[in-house]
Amino acid sequence: MTEMTTKFFAKAGEPGTHTGNRGLQIEEPLIFEIGALETSGVDFEEPEPFESRLGDMERRDAIGLPGLTEPEAVRHYVRLSQKNYSIDSGIFPLGSCTMKHNPRLNEKMARLPGIGDIHPLQPQETVQGAIELMAMLSDWLLKLTGMPAVALSPKAGAHGELCGMIAIRAALEARGEAEQRRVVLVPDSAHGTNPATAALLGFQVRAVAAKSDGTVCAQAVRDVLGPDVAAMMITNPNTCGLFEPEIADIAAILHEAGAYLYCDGANFNAIAGKVRPGDLGVDAMHINLHKTFSTPHGGGGPGAGPVVFSESLAPFAPLPLIREENGEFALVEDHATGGEDRPFGRLVAFHGQMGMFVRALSYMLSFGIDGVRQASEDAVLNANYIRAGLKDVMTQPFGDRVCMHEVLFDDVFLKGTGLSTLDFAKAMIDEGFHPMTVYFPLVVHGAMLIEPTESESKQSLDQFVGALRSLARAARQGDTERFKGAPHFAPRRRLDETRAARQPVLRFTPAQSKAAD
Ligand SMILES: Cc1ncc(COP(=O)(O)O)c(C=O)c1O
Repeated sequence: MTEMTTKFFAKAGEPGTHTGNRGLQIEEPLIFEIGALETSGVDFEEPEPFESRLGDMERRDAIGLPGLTEPEAVRHYVRLSQKNYSIDSGIFPLGSCTMKHNPRLNEKMARLPGIGDIHPLQPQETVQGAIELMAMLSDWLLKLTGMPAVALSPKAGAHGELCGMIAIRAALEARGEAEQRRVVLVPDSAHGTNPATAALLGFQVRAVAAKSDGTVCAQAVRDVLGPDVAAMMITNPNTCGLFEPEIADIAAILHEAGAYLYCDGANFNAIAGKVRPGDLGVDAMHINLHKTFSTPHGGGGPGAGPVVFSESLAPFAPLPLIREENGEFALVEDHATGGEDRPFGRLVAFHGQMGMFVRALSYMLSFGIDGVRQASEDAVLNANYIRAGLKDVMTQPFGDRVCMHEVLFDDVFLKGTGLSTLDFAKAMIDEGFHPMTVYFPLVVHGAMLIEPTESESKQSLDQFVGALRSLARAARQGDTERFKGAPHFAPRRRLDETRAARQPVLRFTPAQSKAAD
């Protein structure tokens, strides 16, 4: 074992170990550093002699693939998986992310042979059950949102935003106003994907200032509204964990001015079963199935972000449409399959993430509508339990007020301690907790956004609150060492996260591993 690993695991003032391992935590090398390169863990038959047609293109050097036996490969990936904190290991309090429990029932349903083994190119008469399942999911989403049309195909929340805004652009084109309406209004508390979506479609983004209580008022919208506005994108409940109380008025003002209201529905898990966005005047809204309806987030996917549409935008939703006639289900694609031509066309090659549809519907059916409503209430209750447990030791940017599914703190309680939000978050890792979302929303200095979700028990919340109370007290008492070097007990200490994100090393070269040694 190299000195490098010993160095990483030794804490200040403590001896390192001979192996570099610590307790039963194994310091795992890269797969290229285990076993022998250019060997194989299985016996392949020698290929028949053949004449290469690659000419100059033929590889001259060894490719450098790692050769592992089966047990070596299994151990490598199991050890890596153990380093990966997950919702199955403990509370994952990332605000705006809704890391809730993924019920095992969902997994069982998604693996049923009649669902897991089908292919999107199968003739529709052989997958009637799957299309019926999509129709049922659509029905749930439409009833929960109070909207008349839905597109299931977007693959994530951000993709849903793109879908909704393309539909808005298509509707404006149909009205002959696309050239005139080039501006999208976005509150300054918005999730970054909102202005990014608008900009990607060539709209100019005009900010709407939030009030001092973190919400957007109708007057602020009126102040920036003009004949050039295509739509407003607003998140509700917003990224400060607050319900937008003037949203219905905002919708009315926008409609009067000929513009649309896009609602970022990423936080629908706070209001599902309680509030129908259609009743608020929303024209399009995405729903992150991987948040509200408990499907796994995955590493950037697979997600699903269905979009619901109002009456006025329904004709501009993307294909395919789901249709039922005399008990027969069909995915209607175009003229050839009995549909009308649609200005949008399709968003994706097939029809979306079937595995996620199954999981979300499984969650809905196992809970029932009253259960979905209770999940929303419990998510809000849990966030407020944390707020009440921490309000005397941490500070809130808009004063102590009832929040929705997530509670927002700022860094005012750290003032004079020499510590930052990042130090506080890193010290949580030593306590065995994944940090909350930090420095978001941008409108709050040193923001700490905590979303426990409905999955957590009172005992789990009490442990979490207890740890944060102890950290807040330690910070006030000047125990800076506990924070500045944190995490002290993780396999890696404080990393340069900005550099890791901006200059990621994604390619292994033997020279690099030497340099690191
Ligand atoms: C408020 C908000 N909007 C949009 C998104 C984007 O959703 P997705 O990650 O599914 O693309 C997120 C995700 O965190 C979010 O919190």
